[in-house]
Amino acid sequence: MGFRTNTCNDLNLSNLGQTVTLCGWVNACRNLGGMLFIDLRDREGITQLVIDPAAAPEVFEMAKPIREEWVIQATGIVRARPEGMINNDRATGAVEIAVNTLNILNQAAPMPYNLEDPKASDDMKLKYRYLDMRRSGLLNTLKVRHKITQVMRNVFDKEGFIEVETPILTKSTPEGARDYLVPSRMKVGGFYALPQSPQQYKQLLMVGGVDKYFQIARCFRDEDLRADRQPEFTQIDLEMSFVNEKDVQDITEKLLYNVMKDVKGMEVAIPFPRMTWLDAMTQYGSDKPDTRFGMVMHNVTKLFTTSTFKPFESAIAENGTIEALNGKGLAAATSRKGIDELTEAAKLLGAKGLVALKVDEAGTLSGPAARFLTAEETAALKNELDAQPGDLLLLVADKSFRVTCFALGRVRLELAAKNNMIPEDKFNFLWITEFPLFDWDFAEQRWVAEHHPFTHPMDEDLPLLNTEPGKVRARAYDIILNGVELGGGSIRIHEPELQALMFKTLGISDESARHRFGHLLDAFSFGAPPHGGLALGHDRLVMLLSGMKSIRDTIAFPKTAKAACLMMDSPSTDVDSKQLQELNLAIVNNA
Ligand code: AMO
Repeated sequence: MGFRTNTCNDLNLSNLGQTVTLCGWVNACRNLGGMLFIDLRDREGITQLVIDPAAAPEVFEMAKPIREEWVIQATGIVRARPEGMINNDRATGAVEIAVNTLNILNQAAPMPYNLEDPKASDDMKLKYRYLDMRRSGLLNTLKVRHKITQVMRNVFDKEGFIEVETPILTKSTPEGARDYLVPSRMKVGGFYALPQSPQQYKQLLMVGGVDKYFQIARCFRDEDLRADRQPEFTQIDLEMSFVNEKDVQDITEKLLYNVMKDVKGMEVAIPFPRMTWLDAMTQYGSDKPDTRFGMVMHNVTKLFTTSTFKPFESAIAENGTIEALNGKGLAAATSRKGIDELTEAAKLLGAKGLVALKVDEAGTLSGPAARFLTAEETAALKNELDAQPGDLLLLVADKSFRVTCFALGRVRLELAAKNNMIPEDKFNFLWITEFPLFDWDFAEQRWVAEHHPFTHPMDEDLPLLNTEPGKVRARAYDIILNGVELGGGSIRIHEPELQALMFKTLGISDESARHRFGHLLDAFSFGAPPHGGLALGHDRLVMLLSGMKSIRDTIAFPKTAKAACLMMDSPSTDVDSKQLQELNLAIVNNA
């Protein structure tokens, strides 16, 4: 016989009288009225064992020293629990096992912290991640994670995609984050870079004729970490030949539709709504809008072209933008302090301030800026925002369109969160399209690629590439879920001349382009098919579908905000001098 006949979540009233063997960890154990009750736990659930000294005196003696987290094997008969002892919260709550044979498989040292203490420190939980895993929801999240990949693999297979693995030891890729480097032993001074994504390889696979590629790909980026960023994370990565945007979006929708159906039991409507980047920025102040609630922003620049209110006047003078939103009925609920907090949020994103106006009972605007607005401006603003008594109007003005939109967009989110306006049970998928191809880097005074330098410009904007790069839109698209950027992709440049022009606009010299991307340019000279693709952030998808707040909770062994693994104690300085010597490396402390 094997170790066990059932899991700890299997048994119910249909199994009465059966002899079963279960294995697992002791979740709890108590002695009640001379009987020993053990809650036995495995990955699937918990089953109650009962050891009666009258029926099984030897087993009872053996079980006496058992403590929490010991590993045991128990054989016994399934019986109904007495009336009043039924636990409806558990699948196995109507039965218990009357144990007649017990085998202690392993003892456990006292736990380093109380595994069920909600206040246990994050550091302890990360150091003992394998213990945290036993009782927290993490195991369930790992199941969701597995299920999602499983569903996706099936869809990919049905649609004719081939799963191809690409190298981890590679060369710098152009996603724009800092690389993790790995020194080479064979080539003095040589370094591999860990891939920030398989971007170049998947394009080379298209040149090779793979046609439809996917990979559950590990990516590495040495960037500042946040709740939705880890230094190593997983992408569901895909690339296709002879396609346009719609083909890539269709397969992405198919993947997400099936995941929602099979993992959440929800039918989401496809195709997902589309919104241009410009509309997303102007109406939601974000390139990843949360559309689960309204409070849509308005571009009110034209209402204030002759304003003498300083912040508006100077924004207008510098060709800037003024955006406004109406917090409907939120005037009373928003205190001075509340407005100060919203102002701080706006400032964090570069705004110089936030204009707050409350509409009083008579329809008059109050607030420090109110007296600087003319009667016409006030009336036009109220009309544009449909302002009614009790409303809170918020405005940002800045010379930079992006700063204005992002700052008020952040205020929109904070205001909604403070007032519980975001429904948690909605799943709003959304495509953002027509991204700008470039962004102006004020610090470096040059154009940088909004996505990466292989993104195809929109054909109708090609004539602007030489003259007004800022106006060129990209054949790029992001998929958004509930205000989180779930994934992004584009149709790529496959024409060598256009690629050269792109590098020129980005200020990348021919020599530098050859040096960095020569392999790709060569490949494209040998007949590259038109192609495009996308990558979904797997960790982020799992996070949103399992209701987690951080992708850390979706990864079996995550890193801390300082990119450390507390369990393995990495990164480690415990490196042999011989290893360093072989790598021709010496440690210099520049700190
Ligand atoms: P991009 O850089 O937009 O595109 O990444 C695609 C998706 O990967 C996820 N993601 C992350 N998840 C966790 N931690 C991180 N540090 C992190 N960085 C990115 C996000 C993001 O939307 N090669 C292109 C894709 C393409 O063009 O096909 C790429 O990597 O969910």
